[in-house]
Amino acid sequence: MRIDILTLFPDTLGDVLSESILGRAQERGYISIEAHQIRDYTANKQNQVDDYPYGGGRGAIMQADPLYRCWEAVCDEAGGAVHTVYLSPCGHTFKQADAIRLSKLDNLILVCGHYEGIDERVLEEVVTDYVSIGDYVLTGGELPALVMMDAISRFVPGVLNNEESAEFDSFHDNLLEYPQYSRPEEWHGKKVPEVLLSGHHANVDKWRREQSIIRTAKWRP
Ligand code: ADE
Repeated sequence: MRIDILTLFPDTLGDVLSESILGRAQERGYISIEAHQIRDYTANKQNQVDDYPYGGGRGAIMQADPLYRCWEAVCDEAGGAVHTVYLSPCGHTFKQADAIRLSKLDNLILVCGHYEGIDERVLEEVVTDYVSIGDYVLTGGELPALVMMDAISRFVPGVLNNEESAEFDSFHDNLLEYPQYSRPEEWHGKKVPEVLLSGHHANVDKWRREQSIIRTAKWRP
């Protein structure tokens, strides 16, 4: 899978992309992630990418043209128009099901906004989906883009090894994950539930499912 991020702040994505599971997945060739500087696509000497809003109001608006040229260049590289997500608090709230759906695409473009927003006309031409990561406003779309990429890439075949498998995640089957324990058997006077020491796999599975249901009812009814 190929993911391209269109942004005015590509450096802010750096470490997260090169470390951990996302870094390993890129090294092994399961995904390729590239950040593109929108400012490189301006047609003016000052490399200006924003201007005042028509009708007045606060702040600056990202202009249509630099973003459009950047998007076109990335689509050309990818070989056709690509599913394009604009990260915005106005979007549909991102869920695990969206991560699974988007992980099946060959190409995905994430557009990160800044300032007070982006000229609506370019959004109308390029955006397939508006996505929010939650009901709060961040200073830009870069952190949401990282959150989405992390969640999506876990479902790209080969990215997780068996031990990290997404199959038993919270939200699998619409249930939260059951509690987990490791050594020692007793810590601060608290014992590991007996059934987990029994070696009886069917009982362990039954207990885990019950715990998932209890947790979901309590925390996310
Ligand atoms: N940009 C600013 N806030 C955002 C949010 N909550 N989700 C996605 N993009 C954003």
